[in-house]
Amino acid sequence: MQKPEQKVYYPDPCYRESALIHDYNELYHEFEKDPDAFWRRIASDLLWFKPWDKVRVWEHPHASWFTGAELNITYNCLERHVNNDRRNKVAIFWAGENGRERIFTYYQLYKDVMRMGNALKSLGVQKGDRVCIYLPGIPELVVSMLACARIGAVHTVVFAGYGAKALNERITGAGAKIVITADASVRRGGSIPLKPIVEEALIHAPTVEKVIILRTQEPKVGLLDDFELDYEELINQADRYCEPVHVNSEDPLFILYTSGTTGAPKGIVHAAGGYMVGAYYTTKYVLTLRENDVYWCTADPGWITGHTYGIYGPLLVGGTIFLSEYTPDYPDAGIWWKLVEDYGVTIFYTAPTAIRMFMRMGEEWPQKYDLSSLRLLGSVGEPLNPEAFEWFYKYIGKEKCPILDTWWQTETGMHMVTTMVGLPMKPGFAGKPIPGVVATVVDELGEPIPPGTTGYLAIKEPWPSMMKGVYQNDERYRQYWSFGKYGYYSSNDLAVMDEEGYIMLLGRSDDIIIVAGHNVGTAEIESALVSHSAVAEAAAIGKPDPLKGNIIKAFVILRNGVEQTPKLIHDLKYHVRIMLGPISVPAELDFVDNLPKTRSGKIMRRVLKAKEMGMDPGDISTLDE
Ligand code: WT7
Repeated sequence: MQKPEQKVYYPDPCYRESALIHDYNELYHEFEKDPDAFWRRIASDLLWFKPWDKVRVWEHPHASWFTGAELNITYNCLERHVNNDRRNKVAIFWAGENGRERIFTYYQLYKDVMRMGNALKSLGVQKGDRVCIYLPGIPELVVSMLACARIGAVHTVVFAGYGAKALNERITGAGAKIVITADASVRRGGSIPLKPIVEEALIHAPTVEKVIILRTQEPKVGLLDDFELDYEELINQADRYCEPVHVNSEDPLFILYTSGTTGAPKGIVHAAGGYMVGAYYTTKYVLTLRENDVYWCTADPGWITGHTYGIYGPLLVGGTIFLSEYTPDYPDAGIWWKLVEDYGVTIFYTAPTAIRMFMRMGEEWPQKYDLSSLRLLGSVGEPLNPEAFEWFYKYIGKEKCPILDTWWQTETGMHMVTTMVGLPMKPGFAGKPIPGVVATVVDELGEPIPPGTTGYLAIKEPWPSMMKGVYQNDERYRQYWSFGKYGYYSSNDLAVMDEEGYIMLLGRSDDIIIVAGHNVGTAEIESALVSHSAVAEAAAIGKPDPLKGNIIKAFVILRNGVEQTPKLIHDLKYHVRIMLGPISVPAELDFVDNLPKTRSGKIMRRVLKAKEMGMDPGDISTLDE
């Protein structure tokens, strides 16, 4: 088995001048010495109405954080800045298609959130009630989320690309009282109606009392009856001052349904106090976000990345959020880079699937724009394969911006494993557990394994923004904390750790292929295929085989202009063989134009697999169009 030598990139010292850098080892030792004191120090940056009794109470598998404390996250996102001379600072730059632009200062955002909070109260929404938000990535989505938090209501945001069935499942699952939506969303020069989807989703949704509709299009869509309310009218009639409700640290802040790569969606519940501290800590120390930054998280606010690092984290630290409705390739493949130049974006956080798409479209696009404002790049969602890392590093970061490959999950609420700014970067490796996170790679019993051996990424201790539970399903919650002999938190991700403690993610354990008794990670094969100059994207699945248990079947999207030839199939197999060894070679390889993906960009291997086997693909509510 011949593997290419591991490359290491040393961060350009210029990152220090522009960023708030904290020494990894120092932080780590501070945490190790006294975890409670560590979190107490972090939490003390924030404003609490009532102090906590205990930083952490850990009764496996349930953890409570900052017990007895009272807070309101919006008081920390808004008043903390508004009352401190930052009221006129830009909170949100929003860029819409066709050059539409909206700008919200912290003060303007604060006022809108209070009016929306009052509007919800006027409809009878009380602390603990669930509000479903089904809006595209526009400022009203931010206002609606914060308005819920302001009054102690629990938001459950549903990505606006979901269809009626998925929306209905989430509305009824959460028992939402109110749905906030828009007439339509804008995408690639057209508009996608949302109202008919909501109407259909509400047919069997008995808990819903009112629907609030933001009408953006002319002529305005009609409202059916007094079940449907106009967003603008409601907010304009609302009282201007809305007291932040004092919620308990353990009260739920939101429910977010997971992307469902592994079956039926789960309502992940995050609690107010711990989530706030985790989001604040990682935004400040991992993303190194400061007040002067213009920060672009390309994830839709409807995903956890958008919640933690698109909205709450940046507002907690008082940064400037850049939010946009542009897709990466419309009106042309340079639009995102034009936006970086136009708004002087300093931190850019995106997904490997987007980076690979940009690779495919060619570096001539970013080269047309001045990207010198950028100082830090980030990636999340799936492994950032070395080729994508290198392209991102060279053509976007100009070999000076560090890259954070951040591993975490909806359930973890915050970053868990990454290479913090200042540490040497190893393409292909996410990095080390961040200070505050006790994660390791173990065998199926939870026992330590030698470096270089494939195992499971497990977490031994709770962390502040750990999910509070799975909504109304404690059994499903408990399963997370039942890994191996010691009841660790199981991430369901396969991983390998090197001698220096850097962790490489190999894909979900549910995505593993056992070939002739050997474990092979789909991510590894895909990464190998993508490292070939002809390949843009690849997916690998296990196809049942009477002799070997499974054989590997690969699906490959070629780069523009590359011809599909039988010789190329041979070359690609040979390439994988050289990189990973004979057991990893796909026995079958098909060229395709598309891969089934979730809307968050993850390849849905089980859809490919079901199709291959002529079976029902199961729940495909998360499949992108
Ligand atoms: C799963 C969680 C966290 C926001 C986005 C996805 C995979 C996530 C990485 C990474 C390798 C990654 C894991 C994880 N994943 N980030 N940097 N390297 N894999 O949230 O939908 O809850 O999915 O995404 O498999 O378990 P999610």
